Amino acid sequence: MDKLLITGGKRLVGDVTISGAKNAALPILCAGLLTSGDVVLDNVPHLHDVATMLKLLGQTGLKVAQDGEKVTLNGSAIDKLEAPYELVKTMRASILVLGPLLARFGEAKVSLPGGCAIGSRPVDQHIKGLQALGAEITIDAGYIYAKCKKLKGARIVTDMITVTGTENLLMAATLAEGETILENAAREPEVTDLANLLVAMGARIEGIGTDRLVIQGVPELHGASHSVISDRIEAATFLCAVAATGGDITLRNTRTDIMDAALDKLREVGLQMTIGKDTIRAQMDARPNPVTFRTTEYPGFPTDMQAQFMAVNTIANGPSRVTETIFENRFMHVQEMNRLGAAIETDGNTAFIKGVDQLVGAPVMATDLRASASLVIAGLAAKGETLIDRIYHLDRGYDRMEVKLQAIGANISRIK
Ligand code: EPU
Repeated sequence: MDKLLITGGKRLVGDVTISGAKNAALPILCAGLLTSGDVVLDNVPHLHDVATMLKLLGQTGLKVAQDGEKVTLNGSAIDKLEAPYELVKTMRASILVLGPLLARFGEAKVSLPGGCAIGSRPVDQHIKGLQALGAEITIDAGYIYAKCKKLKGARIVTDMITVTGTENLLMAATLAEGETILENAAREPEVTDLANLLVAMGARIEGIGTDRLVIQGVPELHGASHSVISDRIEAATFLCAVAATGGDITLRNTRTDIMDAALDKLREVGLQMTIGKDTIRAQMDARPNPVTFRTTEYPGFPTDMQAQFMAVNTIANGPSRVTETIFENRFMHVQEMNRLGAAIETDGNTAFIKGVDQLVGAPVMATDLRASASLVIAGLAAKGETLIDRIYHLDRGYDRMEVKLQAIGANISRIK
């Protein structure tokens, strides 16, 4: 299993090009199931999760051609309407094939995802929504079996805001008969990116970017081209890194208009930012200020940035408080940060961080994707060597992170 070895204490200086967003690319790849035409995608990031999704889609008979960041999908010969446990258990986003397969072919068999490191993460809302569209759903031996003659539009109010739930139902509704209204829809920019592709494929969707999506079903969708939006979480992760180490970096290929909550907090931290059209220059020369926040759905503060900001808070010049409201178990990084000398206590879903003068390197273990990124940031800021084990989590969702960090002066290497 690969590890990362970091010798901390270096200022970060230089340019970083931000990749396409993981959480936009995954649903967008599934949209290839909705048509027999070519879906041509650009800015697809190099990630394990993307490779897993392409493998899963390939098993259905979807044709996949990959050339760097360009991926072409063709769904004219899909013949296996299934997502097996072996793949779903490694990536929960596999559930995103359910809506498209059911809507286009009237049938799908998808393994139930289990719990995961950050919470129990049920998919009851995906199922409830598809049932409202007329699907017959049974669960047997760990699999969801979904069937329908033709999905029929309906008004669906999800019990909570769910990102992949909204995406699954949105894709299904594009091919349903009549009008579907999705109330309480997720407004995440990744949902918007998917909706924009679907419209380019011939879908009729109103309310894109709002919590009420109105979809008029069409008999079929056609091929289209689309460039995946920039990864706001990757961008904000690099900004947290420079806030923790000090330095002067410029991010390229960013979308600053979808990063307000994180950018506001980074200003509070003391990061000096100059925002360009698709660039952010970020300079930091002082010790970070502490920031208190609670995670919420977009446009609020993203849960996917909670751990990385906590890493910055560990060395801030005062105490802070972080409350996680989206997932019930997303503090696995706390114990690992404390191994590096941080002073964090938790009480339920709130973490109280003291702010110490200096972290000191130690061996630590990555537990999930964003926790891994937060340990990289802590390691970059710490004195001495930090060895991070289980970084396969990082490879799932960050495009060659250590290579990008090396290019801006970090002392970081991968140990095979
Ligand atoms: N929930 C239910 N039932 C459902 C669906 C969700 O109870 O049917 C609950 C979840 O357990 C959670 C909350 O609702 O407590 C929100 O979950 P959501 O469905 O929005 O999460 P997700 O769609 O599974 C996506 C991202 C996550 C990100 C969350 C929240 C993808 C592929 N994943 O997950 O990304 O944290 O939205 O923004 O888009 C990551 O990138 O590290 C990551 C975990």
